[in-house]
Amino acid sequence: ASTPVLAGKKVVITAGPTREDLDPVRYITNHSSGKMGYAIAEAAVAAGANVELISGPVALTPPAGCAIHRAVSAAQMHQQVMQNIADADIFIATAAVADYRPKHLAAQKIKKNNDELTLTFVKNPDILKDVANLTNAPFTVGFAAESENVETYARNKLASKKLAMIAANDISAQGLGFNSDRNALHVIWNGGDKKLPAASKTVLAEALIKLIAEQYNKNNSP
Ligand code: PMT
Repeated sequence: ASTPVLAGKKVVITAGPTREDLDPVRYITNHSSGKMGYAIAEAAVAAGANVELISGPVALTPPAGCAIHRAVSAAQMHQQVMQNIADADIFIATAAVADYRPKHLAAQKIKKNNDELTLTFVKNPDILKDVANLTNAPFTVGFAAESENVETYARNKLASKKLAMIAANDISAQGLGFNSDRNALHVIWNGGDKKLPAASKTVLAEALIKLIAEQYNKNNSP
């Protein structure tokens, strides 16, 4: 049998949503189910990688053979990634991380006293950007969930965040993307791109891992 394409490589993957608390009973989150990230983790294990899966709150069972690290907020996910990124060969950021969190976490339940409620948010750390900017950064793959100008925004993120590769995810398409079993991706890297048409997240994850391994091995061959 041939050697698996990512044999012995350390691959760190983020998956799922983050949850940003407002008060003891309420939080802000998004529709990410973790299915895409967990499928990528499974495909990476099948390709021979040592996988560290950093997961937001989801209702999925982690794939066999990967190490699981749980996070709830973006700050916790950032911390978990930074604690596990040393010596990583590849980083894949599939998680839908909240860009902002409430400025104040109310110690007590917010009361229904006024007709309007105004909340102030502050920016969360950008996990993908921080990993890509590390000295000896791993081969870093971002996702771009966009509802318009998908390819342009994805190419901008590839360049501005200094990524090796980006998977553009058109979230305007019905039945694909967030919380669905299917997705479609446009994968872009410096010097090439490939459209992976609508398919199950399992099939897409295998195709994405194959593309990542090809580009990683091209960049890192002696
Ligand atoms: O979980 P599923 O239900 O299966 O859905 C899959 C998915 C639609 C969530 C997934 O395919 C996807 O597109 N993930 C990226 C979602 C996202 O938040 O995209 P973004 O364009 O806002 O972020 C760009 C990139 O930066 C992403 O790689 C994200 O993980 C990363 N990021 C963003 C903000 C932040 N603070 N830290 C980050 O690392």
